[in-house]
Amino acid sequence: MRRVSEPLERTLVLLKPDAVERALIGTIITRFENVGLKIVGMKMVWVDADFSKKHYSDHVSKPFYKGLESFITAGPVIAMAIEGISSVDLVRKMVGATEPKKAVPGTIRGDYSQHSYEWADKKGIAIKNLIHASDSLENAQKELKLWFAPSELHSYKTVHEVHVF
Ligand code: CDP
Ligand code: MG
Repeated sequence: MRRVSEPLERTLVLLKPDAVERALIGTIITRFENVGLKIVGMKMVWVDADFSKKHYSDHVSKPFYKGLESFITAGPVIAMAIEGISSVDLVRKMVGATEPKKAVPGTIRGDYSQHSYEWADKKGIAIKNLIHASDSLENAQKELKLWFAPSELHSYKTVHEVHVF
Protein backbone atom coordinates (compact mmCIF):
# COMPACT_ATOMS: atom_id res chain seq x y z
CA MET A 1 0.00 0.00 0.00
CA ARG A 2 1.11 3.54 -0.72
CA ARG A 3 2.30 5.56 2.28
CA VAL A 4 -0.71 7.84 2.41
CA SER A 5 1.14 10.91 3.68
CA GLU A 6 3.38 11.01 0.60
CA PRO A 7 2.17 12.44 -2.69
CA LEU A 8 1.74 10.30 -5.79
CA GLU A 9 3.06 12.40 -8.68
CA ARG A 10 3.60 12.14 -12.43
CA THR A 11 6.67 13.60 -14.10
CA LEU A 12 7.97 13.89 -17.67
CA VAL A 13 11.20 12.12 -18.64
CA LEU A 14 12.83 12.35 -22.07
CA LEU A 15 15.63 10.08 -23.21
CA LYS A 16 17.43 12.51 -25.50
CA PRO A 17 18.83 11.57 -28.94
CA ASP A 18 22.26 10.71 -27.48
CA ALA A 19 20.65 8.12 -25.15
CA VAL A 20 18.63 6.62 -28.01
CA GLU A 21 21.61 6.51 -30.41
CA ARG A 22 23.85 4.99 -27.72
CA ALA A 23 21.24 2.23 -27.19
CA LEU A 24 20.81 3.19 -23.53
CA ILE A 25 17.00 3.18 -23.60
CA GLY A 26 16.61 -0.14 -21.80
CA THR A 27 19.41 0.48 -19.33
CA ILE A 28 17.91 3.79 -18.22
CA ILE A 29 14.30 2.60 -18.11
CA THR A 30 15.38 -0.37 -15.97
CA ARG A 31 16.63 2.01 -13.29
CA PHE A 32 13.21 3.61 -13.01
CA GLU A 33 11.47 0.25 -12.95
CA ASN A 34 13.86 -1.14 -10.33
CA VAL A 35 13.17 1.66 -7.88
CA GLY A 36 9.44 1.05 -8.16
CA LEU A 37 8.49 3.95 -10.41
CA LYS A 38 5.71 3.22 -12.88
CA ILE A 39 5.75 4.15 -16.57
CA VAL A 40 2.22 5.34 -17.33
CA GLY A 41 2.91 6.71 -20.83
CA MET A 42 5.69 6.14 -23.38
CA LYS A 43 6.39 6.94 -27.05
CA MET A 44 9.17 7.75 -29.53
CA VAL A 45 9.00 11.26 -30.98
CA TRP A 46 11.22 13.17 -33.39
CA VAL A 47 10.96 16.73 -32.10
CA ASP A 48 11.03 19.67 -34.54
CA ALA A 49 12.24 23.23 -33.89
CA ASP A 50 8.75 24.56 -33.07
CA PHE A 51 8.08 21.86 -30.51
CA SER A 52 11.56 22.32 -29.00
CA LYS A 53 10.75 26.01 -28.45
CA LYS A 54 7.53 25.01 -26.66
CA HIS A 55 9.21 22.41 -24.47
CA TYR A 56 12.19 24.64 -23.65
CA SER A 57 10.18 27.90 -23.52
CA ASP A 58 12.10 29.03 -20.39
CA HIS A 59 15.43 28.62 -22.22
CA VAL A 60 14.66 30.04 -25.66
CA SER A 61 16.34 33.37 -24.98
CA LYS A 62 19.44 31.86 -23.35
CA PRO A 63 22.78 31.74 -25.15
CA PHE A 64 22.89 27.92 -25.12
CA TYR A 65 19.42 27.53 -26.68
CA LYS A 66 20.58 27.26 -30.31
CA GLY A 67 22.85 24.34 -29.46
CA LEU A 68 20.14 22.79 -27.30
CA GLU A 69 17.63 22.93 -30.15
CA SER A 70 20.12 21.27 -32.53
CA PHE A 71 20.75 18.58 -29.92
CA ILE A 72 17.13 17.76 -29.10
CA THR A 73 16.03 17.76 -32.78
CA ALA A 74 18.96 15.63 -34.00
CA GLY A 75 17.16 12.30 -33.64
CA PRO A 76 14.19 10.64 -31.99
CA VAL A 77 13.64 10.86 -28.24
CA ILE A 78 11.75 8.55 -25.90
CA ALA A 79 9.11 10.45 -23.93
CA MET A 80 7.81 8.90 -20.73
CA ALA A 81 5.29 9.82 -18.09
CA ILE A 82 6.57 8.35 -14.83
CA GLU A 83 4.41 7.94 -11.75
CA GLY A 84 5.42 7.34 -8.16
CA ILE A 85 5.69 8.74 -4.65
CA SER A 86 7.39 12.17 -4.91
CA SER A 87 8.45 11.12 -8.42
CA VAL A 88 9.45 14.64 -9.51
CA ASP A 89 12.21 14.88 -6.88
CA LEU A 90 13.15 11.20 -7.00
CA VAL A 91 13.65 11.23 -10.77
CA ARG A 92 15.69 14.45 -10.65
CA LYS A 93 17.91 12.83 -7.99
CA MET A 94 18.37 9.74 -10.15
CA VAL A 95 19.18 11.90 -13.21
CA GLY A 96 21.94 13.94 -11.47
CA ALA A 97 23.53 17.30 -12.18
CA THR A 98 22.99 19.04 -15.52
CA GLU A 99 26.72 18.97 -16.36
CA PRO A 100 27.70 15.31 -16.78
CA LYS A 101 31.27 15.99 -15.62
CA LYS A 102 29.85 17.15 -12.25
CA ALA A 103 27.11 14.51 -11.99
CA VAL A 104 28.10 12.04 -9.28
CA PRO A 105 28.54 8.32 -9.94
CA GLY A 106 25.33 6.45 -9.24
CA THR A 107 23.26 9.02 -11.12
CA ILE A 108 22.25 8.39 -14.73
CA ARG A 109 24.23 11.33 -16.07
CA GLY A 110 27.16 10.52 -13.75
CA ASP A 111 27.31 6.89 -14.82
CA TYR A 112 26.88 7.23 -18.57
CA SER A 113 28.13 10.64 -19.69
CA GLN A 114 31.16 12.89 -19.31
CA HIS A 115 30.49 16.10 -21.31
CA SER A 116 31.46 19.41 -19.71
CA TYR A 117 30.30 22.97 -20.29
CA GLU A 118 33.88 23.81 -21.29
CA TRP A 119 33.99 21.13 -24.00
CA ALA A 120 30.51 21.99 -25.30
CA ASP A 121 31.30 25.73 -25.43
CA LYS A 122 34.50 25.04 -27.34
CA LYS A 123 32.53 23.03 -29.91
CA GLY A 124 29.53 25.39 -29.88
CA ILE A 125 27.15 22.54 -29.02
CA ALA A 126 24.85 21.63 -26.13
CA ILE A 127 26.14 19.36 -23.41
CA LYS A 128 25.08 15.81 -24.18
CA ASN A 129 23.53 14.71 -20.92
CA LEU A 130 21.21 11.92 -22.03
CA ILE A 131 18.01 12.79 -20.25
CA HIS A 132 15.46 15.44 -19.35
CA ALA A 133 13.28 15.37 -16.24
CA SER A 134 10.76 17.96 -15.07
CA ASP A 135 12.19 20.15 -12.31
CA SER A 136 9.00 20.87 -10.33
CA LEU A 137 5.50 19.49 -9.98
CA GLU A 138 4.12 22.56 -11.73
CA ASN A 139 6.46 22.10 -14.71
CA ALA A 140 5.77 18.36 -14.75
CA GLN A 141 2.06 19.01 -15.17
CA LYS A 142 2.72 21.59 -17.89
CA GLU A 143 5.19 19.36 -19.76
CA LEU A 144 3.01 16.24 -19.54
CA LYS A 145 0.15 18.20 -21.09
CA LEU A 146 2.43 19.28 -23.94
CA TRP A 147 3.80 15.78 -24.63
CA PHE A 148 0.84 13.47 -23.98
CA ALA A 149 -2.85 13.45 -24.83
CA PRO A 150 -4.98 12.25 -21.89
CA SER A 151 -5.74 9.03 -23.82
CA GLU A 152 -1.99 8.24 -23.96
CA LEU A 153 -1.68 8.09 -20.16
CA HIS A 154 -2.71 4.92 -18.36
CA SER A 155 -3.55 3.67 -14.87
CA TYR A 156 -2.69 0.13 -13.83
CA LYS A 157 -1.27 -1.73 -10.83
CA THR A 158 2.30 -3.00 -10.48
CA VAL A 159 3.59 -5.60 -8.01
CA HIS A 160 5.67 -2.84 -6.39
CA GLU A 161 2.46 -1.50 -4.93
CA VAL A 162 2.09 -4.79 -3.08
CA HIS A 163 5.74 -5.66 -2.26
CA VAL A 164 7.84 -2.46 -2.16
CA PHE A 165 5.79 0.32 -0.61
O1 CDP B 1 18.18 19.45 -18.00
P1 CDP B 1 18.35 20.26 -16.73
O2 CDP B 1 17.03 20.65 -16.10
O3 CDP B 1 19.30 19.60 -15.77
O4 CDP B 1 19.10 21.62 -17.16
P2 CDP B 1 18.53 23.00 -17.71
O5 CDP B 1 19.28 24.09 -17.03
O6 CDP B 1 17.04 23.04 -17.64
O7 CDP B 1 18.98 23.01 -19.24
C1 CDP B 1 18.28 22.28 -20.22
C2 CDP B 1 19.28 21.57 -21.10
O8 CDP B 1 20.02 22.54 -21.85
C3 CDP B 1 20.35 20.77 -20.36
O9 CDP B 1 19.91 19.50 -19.97
C4 CDP B 1 21.44 20.72 -21.41
O10 CDP B 1 21.20 19.70 -22.38
C5 CDP B 1 21.33 22.08 -22.09
N1 CDP B 1 22.28 23.09 -21.55
C6 CDP B 1 23.49 23.31 -22.21
O11 CDP B 1 23.77 22.65 -23.21
N2 CDP B 1 24.36 24.27 -21.76
C7 CDP B 1 24.08 25.01 -20.68
N3 CDP B 1 24.95 25.94 -20.26
C8 CDP B 1 22.87 24.78 -19.98
C9 CDP B 1 21.99 23.82 -20.45
MG1 MG C 1 15.50 21.88 -16.82
